[in-house]
Amino acid sequence: MTDTQKREIVCSGIRPTGNLHLGNYFGALRNFVRMQEEHDCYFFIADYHSLTTHPTPGSIYGDASKIMAAYLAAGLDPDKATIYLQSDLPETIELYLFFNMNAYLGELERVTSFKDKVRQNPNNVNAGLLTYPTLMAADILIHKATRVPVGKDQEQHLEMTRTFAGRFNNMYHAEVFPLPQAIGSATGLVKIPALNGAGKMGKSEGEASTIFLTDEPSVVRKKIMKAKSDSGPTQMNQQKPEEIENLFQLLRVVSTEETVEYFDDLYNRCQIRYGDLKKQLAEDMVAFVEPIRQRIIEYQADDARLRRVMDQGKEKAHESARRTLDEVRHVIGYRN
Ligand code: TYM
Repeated sequence: MTDTQKREIVCSGIRPTGNLHLGNYFGALRNFVRMQEEHDCYFFIADYHSLTTHPTPGSIYGDASKIMAAYLAAGLDPDKATIYLQSDLPETIELYLFFNMNAYLGELERVTSFKDKVRQNPNNVNAGLLTYPTLMAADILIHKATRVPVGKDQEQHLEMTRTFAGRFNNMYHAEVFPLPQAIGSATGLVKIPALNGAGKMGKSEGEASTIFLTDEPSVVRKKIMKAKSDSGPTQMNQQKPEEIENLFQLLRVVSTEETVEYFDDLYNRCQIRYGDLKKQLAEDMVAFVEPIRQRIIEYQADDARLRRVMDQGKEKAHESARRTLDEVRHVIGYRN
C-alpha cells in the first residue's frame, strides 16, 4: 500500500432473503473481497433487516448461514475482514434508536424502496420498513465506516446515511460521524439486469430471470437460453434495445474482452445470431458460477466452521461498536 492509499473503514451487508445471485455478487460481494485486502472491513449478514418483510419464522439462522457460506465461498477471509451477523451486534440497535429520534416521517416516507414495498405489500407497512434507512445508517456508522460497497439500488439509502450522520454531528456539536460514500466499480455503481429484459436482477423479477450462485449448470444454461432477445438488428451500428444491451452487460462481467468485441462486431454488422451469443454466455457463466457453487456446498456442510467464523466476527465487531457507542452516549449526555 502506498502512503496516499490510507486504510479506510469499510462496511456493508446483505439481507438473508434467499440464495445470493449475480446482482449481489457483482454489485457488492466482489468488492467486499477486493476491499478486504487493503482496508479495515466489516461485512455482516443483515438478519434484522430481513424481518421487515417477515421471512418464514424459525428459519433466520438457516438463511443467514447460507449467506455466510456464500461469503466464504466468494473469498471473504475471517482473518482479513470482520464477518458477522447483524443480530450478534445489538449495539447497532441503540444507535438505531438515537437516529430514529432525529429522522422525520416525511423524509422516510419519500424513500423509493419504502414506496416500492408499500406498493408490493400494502398489508404489511410496518414501522421497521419505514425506518429501514435509519437501521442501515446505524449498521454503517456503528463502525464509523467511510466506504460502503453496494449496488446502484442502495444509492438513496447511502444519501440518507449521510443525512443522519451530518444531522447528529450538528445536533450535538461534535464531529462524531464521517459521511460515508457508496462504492461500486471503476465506472460507478453497478446494476445487473434481470434476464427478462426489464428491471434489475433479484427476487422481484422472479427466479427465472435471476441467476443464483447456487444454480446448477443445467439451470444456468436453461435460464440464459430463455432470456429475452429480439428479432435482430436491421441497420448497421444501430443502438441496442434494452434486452440486448442486458445480454451484453452479462457478457461483459463473465466473458473475455475478445468475446464481447466479437459479438459486438457481429451485432454492428447485422450478422449476429442470438442463439450463438447465448450459448457462449451460458458456458462462460457456468465456468464462473460452478466453482463458487461447489465451494458454497462445502461450506454449508460444515456448520461448526460457519459458527466459528460468526463467533470470531462477533467479538471483533463488538469491540469497534462499543467504542463508537461510548462516544455517542457521552456526546448525548448519558452516564457512561
Ligand atoms: P440486498 O440484500 O437487497 O442486496 C445486497 C447487495 O446486493 C446489491 N444488489 C445488486 N447490485 C447490482 N445489481 C443488482 N441487480 C443487485 N441486486 C442486489 C445491493 O445493492 C446490495 O449492495 N439494505 C441492504 C442491506 C444492508 C446494508 C446495510 C448494505 C443493510 N444494512 C448497510 C450496506 C450497508 C439490502 O437490502 O441489500
